Amino acid sequence: MLVRNFIGSVDPGMRSILSGVDSYAQVLKPGSIISGATIGVVEDSHHPKFAIGDVVSGGFGWTELGVSDGRGLLKLTDRRVPYSCHIGVLGVPGLTAFFGLERIAQLKDNETLLVTSAAGTVGATAGQLAKLRGCHVTGIAGSDDKCSWLKNVCGFDEVINYKTVGDLDMAIAEACSGGIDVLFDNVGNTMIDRVIPRMKVGGRIVVSGQVADYNKAPEDVPGIHNTSAFITHRLRMEGLVVYDDFRDFSRAKEEMIGHIMKGDLHYREHVTEGVANMPEAFISLFTGESFGRRLVQLGDIPEQRQ
Ligand SMILES: NC(=O)c1ccc[n+]([C@@H]2O[C@H](COP(=O)([O-])OP(=O)(O)OC[C@H]3O[C@@H](n4cnc5c(N)ncnc54)[C@H](OP(=O)(O)O)[C@@H]3O)[C@@H](O)[C@H]2O)c1
Repeated sequence: MLVRNFIGSVDPGMRSILSGVDSYAQVLKPGSIISGATIGVVEDSHHPKFAIGDVVSGGFGWTELGVSDGRGLLKLTDRRVPYSCHIGVLGVPGLTAFFGLERIAQLKDNETLLVTSAAGTVGATAGQLAKLRGCHVTGIAGSDDKCSWLKNVCGFDEVINYKTVGDLDMAIAEACSGGIDVLFDNVGNTMIDRVIPRMKVGGRIVVSGQVADYNKAPEDVPGIHNTSAFITHRLRMEGLVVYDDFRDFSRAKEEMIGHIMKGDLHYREHVTEGVANMPEAFISLFTGESFGRRLVQLGDIPEQRQ
């Protein structure tokens, strides 16, 4: 099959495959295509299940054309949401939020959640799904615009602009004055370390991402020091690889589509054009310039018929 991609994504986690050290994803070898989720149209097919004109999501990476035997491709027949959602709020970032809360945090109704990099797709989705469970949600983000969107559109209870707040520890203590049941962390060790003393007994820390640490050499990544609270407060900290939940993706997507249709789950997309601009889009993830799911339009988007 030949697929012409019309949307591609850039993701913070891709930084690790550029680092030269294997993690759960293999390092990128020179000459290979940088990974990323894509949506495209089948342009030629000898596959019984895919016809010319089908729209498919896949992982062709930073490229306009992809060749596939069909494995890993999903035909997008659902017309309730725009195609782009399937690699954003309903794709890996949204699913990371969903399973981070469900499987790792085992979130309960009315708990207190603190989420970092809260205006990204993972963070904003996690915060809103927790709001739907009656939780008290505080988000930390890096601009007033992001904070305002989280509060006024996504319904977060408290927001903190970590770049302007001055005393971040004090701001977290005030926003989560009764303590924190769940920290959903997308940022890294310095953030986790400063939040640990605010966790309630039985608190859970979801280690989702480490965007502040991805660009650091291993020896420069900060450590976590407040470990005694793991004993005194019976804390649990656990990492997540969202692909472990693959079998439950359809259930999670269907639930999230329901929330989107009801207006209870909002998302933002930050789209620029042209495959040549993918490196710039990628860098914007680490400068804070990106706001929402960072996508690059690679070609004309086909009309979505109902
Ligand atoms: N575990 C998994 O299976 C899995 C799967 C997908 C994604 N993830 C992780 O989830 C996290 C969020 O992903 P996303 O796609 O929604 O991206 P994202 O949160 O939109 O990431 C980009 C944002 O990170 C923030 N940031 C960048 N450098 C920072 C720093 N030094 N300190 C604090 N914040 C910084 C910036 O926002 P501000 O303006 O707010 O600083 C930037 O706009 C990432 O760490 C990603 O690796 C994990």
